[in-house]
Amino acid sequence: MVDRNEWERDRPVLTGSPRRPPPSFVEQANVTDPGIYDEFEENWPECWERAADLLSWDQSYETVLREEDAPFYQWFPDGKLNAAKNCVDRHLESGRKTHTAIRWEGKHGERQTYTYRDLYVAINEFAAALRALGVEEDDVVTIYLPMIPELPIAMLSCARIGAPHNVVFAGLSADALATRMDAADSEYLVTCDGYYRRGDAFNQKSKADNARLKLEQDVSTVVVDRLGDDLPHVLGDDECDYHELRETFAGELVDPVPRDAEDMLFVMYTSGTTGEPKGVVHTTGGYLAHATWTSHAVLDVKPEDTYWCAADIGWITGHSYIVYGPLALGTTTVMYEGTPDYPDRDRLWEIVDRNAVDIFYTAPTAIRAFMKWGSEYPAGYDLSSLRLLGTVGEPISPRPWNWYYEHIGNETCPVVDTWWQTETGAVTVSTLPGVSEMKPGAAGPSLPGMDVRVVDSSGTEVDPGDSGYLTIARPWPGMVRTLYDGDERFRAEYWDQFSDPESDDWHYFSGDAARIDEDGYITVLGRVDDVINVSGRRLSTTEVESAITGVAGVAEAAVVGRSSETNGTDVYAYVSTEGGYDDGTAVREAIIDNIETAIGPIARPTKVQFTPELPKTRSGKIMRRLLEDVANGEELGDTSALRNPEIIGEIQAELDEE
Ligand code: PRX
Repeated sequence: MVDRNEWERDRPVLTGSPRRPPPSFVEQANVTDPGIYDEFEENWPECWERAADLLSWDQSYETVLREEDAPFYQWFPDGKLNAAKNCVDRHLESGRKTHTAIRWEGKHGERQTYTYRDLYVAINEFAAALRALGVEEDDVVTIYLPMIPELPIAMLSCARIGAPHNVVFAGLSADALATRMDAADSEYLVTCDGYYRRGDAFNQKSKADNARLKLEQDVSTVVVDRLGDDLPHVLGDDECDYHELRETFAGELVDPVPRDAEDMLFVMYTSGTTGEPKGVVHTTGGYLAHATWTSHAVLDVKPEDTYWCAADIGWITGHSYIVYGPLALGTTTVMYEGTPDYPDRDRLWEIVDRNAVDIFYTAPTAIRAFMKWGSEYPAGYDLSSLRLLGTVGEPISPRPWNWYYEHIGNETCPVVDTWWQTETGAVTVSTLPGVSEMKPGAAGPSLPGMDVRVVDSSGTEVDPGDSGYLTIARPWPGMVRTLYDGDERFRAEYWDQFSDPESDDWHYFSGDAARIDEDGYITVLGRVDDVINVSGRRLSTTEVESAITGVAGVAEAAVVGRSSETNGTDVYAYVSTEGGYDDGTAVREAIIDNIETAIGPIARPTKVQFTPELPKTRSGKIMRRLLEDVANGEELGDTSALRNPEIIGEIQAELDEE
């Protein structure tokens, strides 16, 4: 059983007053029939045909779900389709070729618009170029690009020729890129010269070059020239310029390759409980059906909308809800390169106003920042085009939820708090905005067709009001199929905890703790494994710790999360150095450098606390929970298992002095 005190600390314990969906929204919503829950229940798994029917199939499927080899489920296994054709070609065929597909807003106010026809031309030409470089079906192409249109173009070009993509967030380090390329056996890389970070030109290519030096395989690289004269670069052997390739293959057409529904569409690396990132494998049919269906049913996307998910395509949210879901529905998806506060804190609202954005989807960390900056920033703009607001990535407590509802949504837009993960592929828990009551602080019930449960450590469902582990008791189309690193790890990470293979009873474990109420609404409380969620981004504490212990003079390290008003959680590091206590600035700097080199600036600790030793159990296990309590100024949990209980007091005294 999860200790409630432990998990409810500083979390959104209470839900705010429920709110009904605004009638003006319900009148036009894609899904309005409350009967949809029963309908999916009574007709499971065939209910998921409703999602698959939003796609165009080259060969229709006969089987919805194949369960024989659980937990290696297969969805629509005998169907064939192509994801790029679904996201682009079919909208041309339906007479919408001049409709805007991507509206790009650059950091310095530059703008670009790609119609579906423009996107079609771009992905055909780049698919032809990739083929000419030697990319064949099933070859993994790594994409290491910031938020520029060439990123979705590269993804869709890969999808067109059946080459799975492996997008690595542009802010990750050279080491992190090399690890992910090595793990995915990837011999192709699409990157750029650099990008603007705030006002400055930042060199991305040098990171890519450093990564390549660490790899054993030869890598053929395409470089997008983003910065021109602001950051001149020279191409080496095995490197091509993106725009020159486009010119070479101008006007070429490449037939979209029909893929088996279960063929891999992409791999996405995410942090797990060990230092090694996990290569989450998503397939073409089930993933695309689930991402498209939830864009329709939860985000209420319509082809005529201007829709904006202000996430980064380098993470799963951007894959599912900037690229695949919205483009499959033929809408206009906004892509924003910059940050919310550059050049000023009104930047997002200026973009919403100027583009008459209908749907806006962001993360609680951003909402908390907006709230802190003050309502005068959005108040200066006309946000009346907005119809629906969404949030994802971390728990959102009632106060920021209500602020978002009032100051951005003007109390006329439903807010969908969507719980899901890289592994679930698409939204799993949320209200349906045209149907369900919203409870600020609770994500909502399982979506129709999903069976999300909160259970105790024996797998028994907890009573309403109690907390436990968040599990999923039935397969779903967008689910992770395996880990690129192997089926064994896949079973160990997600299935071994709550399943009973003997009786063929499979339960997926999310790694989250949650509480459920009497209406089946789920409040997610946070991770229960060694993963911390910083501004909606997953970091493995083990990965950060190994970057710290790589510094000369460091003996041991323990990394925990500390609640933070803006980031949700900050990285907090406890370090003991060789030869006793040392608070040397040099070691601290080396630690931060090493973390930025191994992972990237997102993992930078807000505090490095030196201590002569770390609190340990008699068997030598570091008591991270206690360190987390200290970092958060909480009352300490049980210290009786400690071999060196006095150290906790010493650490606290040290902190009190500061
Ligand atoms: O802890 C949960 C949190 O983010 C984790 C998944 O992270 P990632 O795979 O990077 O995907 C993020 C975007 C889907 C989850 O295990 N999380 C995600 N959405 C919510 C959330 N926690 C609370 N409420 C949410 N709506």
